[in-house]
Amino acid sequence: MTTQLDEIADGIFRISTYVLEIAPPAGFVFNQYLVLAEDPLLFHTGHRRLFPAVRDAVARLIPPERLRWISFGHVEADECGAMNLWLAAAPRAEIAHGATGCDVSLNDLADRPPRLLADGEVIDLGGKRVRYIDTPHTPHGWEAGLLLEETTGTLLCGDLFTQTGQSPAVTSSDIVGPATAAEDLFRFSSLHPEMGRTVRRLAALAPATLALMHGPAFTGDGAAALAALADDYDRRTLSWREQQAEAA
Ligand SMILES: [Fe+2]
Ligand SMILES: [Fe+2]
Repeated sequence: MTTQLDEIADGIFRISTYVLEIAPPAGFVFNQYLVLAEDPLLFHTGHRRLFPAVRDAVARLIPPERLRWISFGHVEADECGAMNLWLAAAPRAEIAHGATGCDVSLNDLADRPPRLLADGEVIDLGGKRVRYIDTPHTPHGWEAGLLLEETTGTLLCGDLFTQTGQSPAVTSSDIVGPATAAEDLFRFSSLHPEMGRTVRRLAALAPATLALMHGPAFTGDGAAALAALADDYDRRTLSWREQQAEAA
């Protein structure tokens, strides 16, 4: 396993580890994003076993103990497995997440109390600014939520657009086709009627960059990509309902 470090937007760095053993032969990447600012923020910690590699990547940019904020899409090992290792390594660090994440899981799982963010709440990082957006059950996890870094228009979009395989740090190629293929393969999304609407709400933000957790960072028409993903979720939800109706 090798861990790469690339700047994907001004002051936003993608830390990416490729794992061949997951979804072979294509393999699978796990990304964390470091937002450099007076108060630096790490979006996704990675698994506990990835902590040394992620810490070393962070250390190429800042002393790891300077990390101020830790956030992630939802409560799963690849998103936040190493959160307590980071809380120990960075004494000023706080976990920031939505009300559901804090109330249901993080108040108990995290070694220090998390900072609860309301939907739409902004944290000023000093030179960068992140807005928290609730995305319940999208693509999965009741507590799911994302961050938009507003000065660069970068949506830290977690498991949305998950794809298999190695990818360049930045791409302007299609990310919707690979995402629908990965959905067919993994069935990782919690299909539900609100999903299309939730993803269209993200499209309305018109992000310039979509920073994927499992894939590249996409630069281009983020609104169009999100609208196409919303259409795909609507299609899947509808066909699931039709199948249930036929089976009844
Ligand atoms: Fe996930
Ligand atoms: Fe993930």
